[in-house]
Amino acid sequence: MDPSSALLTDKVAIITGGGQGIGKGIALTFARFGAHVVIADRNAALAESAAAEIRALGRKGLAIQTDVKDFDQVKAMVDRTVRELGGVDILVNNAGGQIPHPFLEMGPDRWRRAVDLNLMGMVHCTDAVVRAMIAGKRRGSIINISSIEGSRAVPGYSIYGACKAGMDNFAKTGALEFGDYGIRINSIAPDVIDTGIATELRKPENQAAVRSAIPLGRLGKVEEVGGAAVFLASDLSSYVTGITLFVDGGTWAAGGWKHEDDSWTLFPGVRMAPRKPVPKQ
Ligand SMILES: NC(=O)c1ccc[n+]([C@@H]2O[C@H](COP(=O)([O-])OP(=O)(O)OC[C@H]3O[C@@H](n4cnc5c(N)ncnc54)[C@H](O)[C@@H]3O)[C@@H](O)[C@H]2O)c1
Repeated sequence: MDPSSALLTDKVAIITGGGQGIGKGIALTFARFGAHVVIADRNAALAESAAAEIRALGRKGLAIQTDVKDFDQVKAMVDRTVRELGGVDILVNNAGGQIPHPFLEMGPDRWRRAVDLNLMGMVHCTDAVVRAMIAGKRRGSIINISSIEGSRAVPGYSIYGACKAGMDNFAKTGALEFGDYGIRINSIAPDVIDTGIATELRKPENQAAVRSAIPLGRLGKVEEVGGAAVFLASDLSSYVTGITLFVDGGTWAAGGWKHEDDSWTLFPGVRMAPRKPVPKQ
């Protein structure tokens, strides 16, 4: 395989929610690999400042204020991308999130908002972009940013977790339905990434807990989600479709196992299996 297949030279990528956090990390990583990037974010100021950073890297950066919950806004954003940048090669369905609430305290408005943002946003953007890819005869790549919470239980995130599981499953069916057009679709499932939501876990007093719970011993960085996204967006993954790629420092594999000094355990304080920590060099 030619090493240049890792590059995204002159590919056009749309990143929803690309104004900050993971979406912005992916956007800047894509630009470093040669892509032109549309930041489709509800927040116009964040979108514009991320697009300016893309342009500073020498690529085209376009901010289009878009609420992914609104299908008309999404269609207008994709039309404008095609008009101004010539087509779409990559879509990252990244906009999402939820304030945690016990299910029984949510009620219809919060249920609907969570589903509209975390599931319908992906549906809207995927429909509009796949049609544009087919019309433009582009062999595209779609990447859903789901979450490890789509594969495990998480108190307070019932609807969010269900939507993220839905994104992962949609990628499997999409792989079958879009494959004939040469369009691939995959999910990336991160665990905690060092963004605005990680304030508590960043505190020095919580570092021992982070080290014991995450096999790689630290939070993930937005650029590390960007690296996985470059793999799925580029020809490096030309035979990969319908998968969920965990970007989680090994947490999914650990399944609740933690280490405490010289032992592994599922129950803090109870020694269950020996561990031989490698002395620090
Ligand atoms: N941060 C994590 O640790 C983590 C872990 C797993 C999964 N995720 C997922 O990654 C994605 C990004 O998370 P983040 O932590 O970077 O989020 P964030 O809150 O830092 O950023 C989200 C961005 O999306 C934009 N946005 C929100 N609603 C929108 C809408 N309706 N339309 C368009 N844009 C909208 C916001 O303006 C913001 O720029 C989310 O889907 C989240 O569920 C995050």
